[in-house]
Order: sequence, then structure tokens, then C-alpha cells
Amino acid sequence: SALALLMILTAYLIGSISSAVIICKLFGLDDPRLRGSGNPGTTNVYRLGGWTPALLVLVMDVLKGMLPVWGSYYLGLDPLVLAVVAMATCLGHIYPLYFEFKGGKAVATALGAMFPVAWEMALLLIATWLLVFTVTRVSSLAALITVSLAPIYAYMIKPQYTVPAIMLALLIVWRHRGNIMRLWRGDEVGFRKPKR
Ligand code: G3P
Repeated sequence: SALALLMILTAYLIGSISSAVIICKLFGLDDPRLRGSGNPGTTNVYRLGGWTPALLVLVMDVLKGMLPVWGSYYLGLDPLVLAVVAMATCLGHIYPLYFEFKGGKAVATALGAMFPVAWEMALLLIATWLLVFTVTRVSSLAALITVSLAPIYAYMIKPQYTVPAIMLALLIVWRHRGNIMRLWRGDEVGFRKPKR
């Protein structure tokens, strides 16, 4: 329907708002795409500026994922459309229209997209991320393990979202290919305290 297409387009446009780039600018920090891991996301903003800007980025990126799916849900669009909306938001985050198409890895955004339709799953994913992160202190590894488990969680809790969960997981793992190489070689940066 036209409404579905409108929501998918809106989702991409909202996803394209690069929270990390905006927050870093507001805090007088360097462009996160040029420093640290080069990723405009919570982890790298923490490396550049510590907790305050990092948590703001996290909240904005989660909200960004949430709003389009939540809106589409209340407009009564069907689950398949909701899945496409979630995907469109994440693609906006990864390939942002207003930021030279250089975006992030969509971990927080995908999590946000899950809340309106499967909050139990979102909580389980947060718990998984926190557990792996607490043990390893490596954000990318926590994200990779968490998104790999997402389709299994979906299958157990919300089977109708298993396929979308697989697609989002594949997209996020693909975006972490640099991290995977570094983890493999044993020189992943992890979650270091900001210098200075
Ligand atoms: O959310 C991105 C995280 O999984 C990895 O970030 O900056 O270590 O590549 P980074």
C-alpha cells in the first residue's frame, strides 16, 4: 500500500540521521568516522568523549530504530511491512542519506526496532550483550554473539520474526567484517577508556 511505502521511506530518512556525528559535533569532538574504529556509534563515541556523549548516541540510535516501527505498528501495517520498516531504518543508519552514506553498524538501531513488536526479545538481547560485554569487555564481540543468537530467540519467542531477525543479523555481521578480522587476528580495539 501507499502507506506502507511512505513508512518505509520515512524509516530510511529517520535512520539516516547520524546521531554519533551530530552528538560529536555538539560536544566539540572529532568526527567519529575519522577517529578510533571509524564507526559512528556508541562504542566509538565513548572512545572519543566518554560516557555522556556515548549514552546520548545510544538513546538516539535506539529511539531512531523504535519510532518508525512503532508508528507503523499503530497504523495497523502487517508484520511483513514492520520487518521491512525495521530493515529500512537500519539501512538508513548504515548508509545515511545526509552523511555521505557513511554510517554505523546498526546494533542499537536494530535493537530499538525490536522493542515495539517484541520487547521480551529486546530485553533478552540486552541481557545477552551485557553478559558477553561484562566477560570480554569487547563491544563488537558482544554485538556479534548477541545478533547471532537473535534468530534463535525469535524462533523461541516470536516465530513470525525469525526471518527478519536472520536478515538483520546477517546485515549487522556483514557490517562487523572489519571487527571480525581484528578479533581473528587478536588486535580488536575493544572498549578503551578515552585518552587525555
Ligand atoms: O556497535 C558497534 C560495535 O559493535 C563495534 O564498534 O567502534 O568497536 O567497531 P567499534
